[in-house]
Amino acid sequence: MSGSTMKFTTRPGGQLTGQIRVTGDKSISHRSIMLGALADGVTIVEGFLEGEDNLATLNAFRALGVQIDGPVNGRVEIQGVGIDGLQAPSADINLGNSGTSMRLLTGLFAAQRFDTTLTGDKSLVTRPMRRVTDPLTKMGASFTTTDSGTPPVKIHGQQRLCGIDYDMPVASAQVKSSLLLAGLYANGQTCVIEPAPTRDHTERMLKGFGYDVQVSGSKVCLLGGGRLTATNIDVPGDISSATFFIVGACIAKGSQLTIKHVGINPTRVGVINILRLMGADITVENEIEVGGEPVADIYVKYAKLRGINIPEDQVPLAIDEFPAIFVAAACAEGQTILTGAKELRVKESDRIQAMADGLSTLGIDAQPTDDGIILQGGQLGGGVVNSYGDHRIAMSFAMAGLCADNEIEILDCENVNTSFPGFAALANQAGLKLNVKDN
Ligand code: S3P
Repeated sequence: MSGSTMKFTTRPGGQLTGQIRVTGDKSISHRSIMLGALADGVTIVEGFLEGEDNLATLNAFRALGVQIDGPVNGRVEIQGVGIDGLQAPSADINLGNSGTSMRLLTGLFAAQRFDTTLTGDKSLVTRPMRRVTDPLTKMGASFTTTDSGTPPVKIHGQQRLCGIDYDMPVASAQVKSSLLLAGLYANGQTCVIEPAPTRDHTERMLKGFGYDVQVSGSKVCLLGGGRLTATNIDVPGDISSATFFIVGACIAKGSQLTIKHVGINPTRVGVINILRLMGADITVENEIEVGGEPVADIYVKYAKLRGINIPEDQVPLAIDEFPAIFVAAACAEGQTILTGAKELRVKESDRIQAMADGLSTLGIDAQPTDDGIILQGGQLGGGVVNSYGDHRIAMSFAMAGLCADNEIEILDCENVNTSFPGFAALANQAGLKLNVKDN
């Protein structure tokens, strides 16, 4: 989407070995800035992901008058301004490629005394916003978007919000979090009911900041009008970034790889569950709890994979991992079928189409369906594939190089920096034969 000139080229073969650490969790890093900014006191974050998406969130709060020092080697110090301390920005806020910043901040800023306009890059301005603006409007918020409900989003401040009970039509942590952040300011109770479990980092972190959040089954509620108390946050490695290496080690003969200190929140481990169903050899070791989030080392050994019907209940738990899972399925024996994953069509790119296009170019029978894909495992060949400016598509095809019998050229890879700065160097260190060209 960005039309960048950065290209990845993989030479065939190789294996992933040794011990690595991946960068910090993107979802947790976003939330650490948001809640740290609203808290009373100073919040220190360690392990913060210095990717462009998280820097977009950080800069948005600077634009709203919050003093934030860093990041320096993953350390960020946030001088919280208190729940009512944000100030009007002097210009529109550009959130780049970051859907999470866009959705969550729309909820939070809808409750402020001032107007804000949120915009973003070529991809972000195509992403659906009604999923948040509709329920937020029911709470009393007021917005202007494009006619198709996409950004730029003009948020009209000075509205009085009221808590609602909202039955979410899509399983989305971004929608849930957006409403909960608005709910901090609403009169009465805000409750969100999920059709299926989604990542619960907002709920966990709110509790870490001393805010009372009631969770019972699929319903999450909080009462507006409370305050947040600053706390320190240690961000674990991002399982969504670890996924590229987990898949790489699963598909490359001779691989034995340990990924240290990865977040294994049960709402994020769908990729491990799915790959294990395919026959993967994955061990989760040294589990500990860090700041309310479970963390562990993940050990992966090459194993022959087989195609499966992916259980639909795993879809929200692996929502960002499907591009890499499709590469695993392409290297597996037999057919893999995914259904119930229409959401993949409205991510940073249409991930069903982007992966089907690229895998077909590499000689794999990949049939996109309305809400998923049907893939026949086979021998991956070489060719030129387009990542469509989508970081996860780019990194997934990079790992495909391990199983391909020829060179793969991947176009438009600049946005890898949105979620995984340093990916190429780390991948080479682990054994992938990856070359980066930027001209
Ligand atoms: C995220 C939630 C997911 C995910 C995104 C990050 C979050 O989006 O795809 O990368 O941090 O809340 P949805 O909630 O829209 O599925």
